Amino acid sequence: MRQKIILVTGANGEIGQELIKTLAQNKSKKIIALDLQPIENTIINLVYDKFIGNILDQNLLEQISSTYEIEEIYHLAALLSTRSEFSPHMAHEVNVTGTLNMLTLSVNQAKSQGKAIKFFFPSSIAVYGFRNKETKIQAGAITESEYCSPITMYGCNKLYCENLGHYYSHHYHQLSKDFEHNLIDFRSIRFSGLISTLTEPQGGTSDYIPQMLHAAARGETYNCFVQNNTRMPFMLMSDAINSIISLMDSPIDYIKSQVYHLSTFNPTPEEFYNCLIQYFPDFKINYEINPKRQEMVNSWPLDLNCERAIAEWKWNPQYNLETAFREYLIPRIKKQYDTKG
Ligand code: SER
Repeated sequence: MRQKIILVTGANGEIGQELIKTLAQNKSKKIIALDLQPIENTIINLVYDKFIGNILDQNLLEQISSTYEIEEIYHLAALLSTRSEFSPHMAHEVNVTGTLNMLTLSVNQAKSQGKAIKFFFPSSIAVYGFRNKETKIQAGAITESEYCSPITMYGCNKLYCENLGHYYSHHYHQLSKDFEHNLIDFRSIRFSGLISTLTEPQGGTSDYIPQMLHAAARGETYNCFVQNNTRMPFMLMSDAINSIISLMDSPIDYIKSQVYHLSTFNPTPEEFYNCLIQYFPDFKINYEINPKRQEMVNSWPLDLNCERAIAEWKWNPQYNLETAFREYLIPRIKKQYDTKG
């Protein structure tokens, strides 16, 4: 008999590490971690088993599939938006072919288990694409079905994979005699920029806000790569993790749309800096604009209308910008660097 497990790909990533810590609180679930690199010390004791390798390696996926009965997959492995622009072909391989491999693995598991596999896919606000400032200002807080015309490779990859998730859930092999509905219970969140106190992101385009926080706590000056008045949606990592858990725990009849976007605030670098100097009064910021990264952020919405998630699975975030600083970011980032220091 194969052990029943949860598989987390991209386990060492920003979301992966924090998600595994939360999933591990449920002792009845056994977590298998998959990552390109050896599993981080922070999570190694929380996982039941680990595989070091590539989601493009079919033999490795076959090995995992033959060893375990996979009940849920959290497919987090991806190349982020800035890195994807440097290697679009590689981005397509990792972000699209990698996801296709995981969906195929899920379908095979579903057939052998005779039940649907739950599949979580982190998508991104990079799926949206505004072509000019006027339209974007006029649009304000957009819904999930608007402006899905990405200008980044990462955004294209994520949007397509959402569609693949939908296809695999409802129409996979629709012309074949053995066609079966609902082999995959696919659920996805389009995340806005995420702010973690534990890890500093690399390779993303929304990195300037979390990087500013970490620089302030380390007593360093931050060189911000977008203009001081750039506005896009963000949320705390803890709200992001809770939202994944809540979405995945929701009864299937709640899940009408499968794809939801989320955000809790949308500060500009200047507004975030003004919050930070209340706690780190000597903190300094310079602006060294990267025009291409600026263009990418400019194509993303100012704000998100999150009513779909609230209506369907009662999404209920914990923090707004003010409580985020007072109750979460500052106590945790200070502890993080004091401990290290
Ligand atoms: N945070 C991501 C990035 O910047 C966007 O979802 O790549």
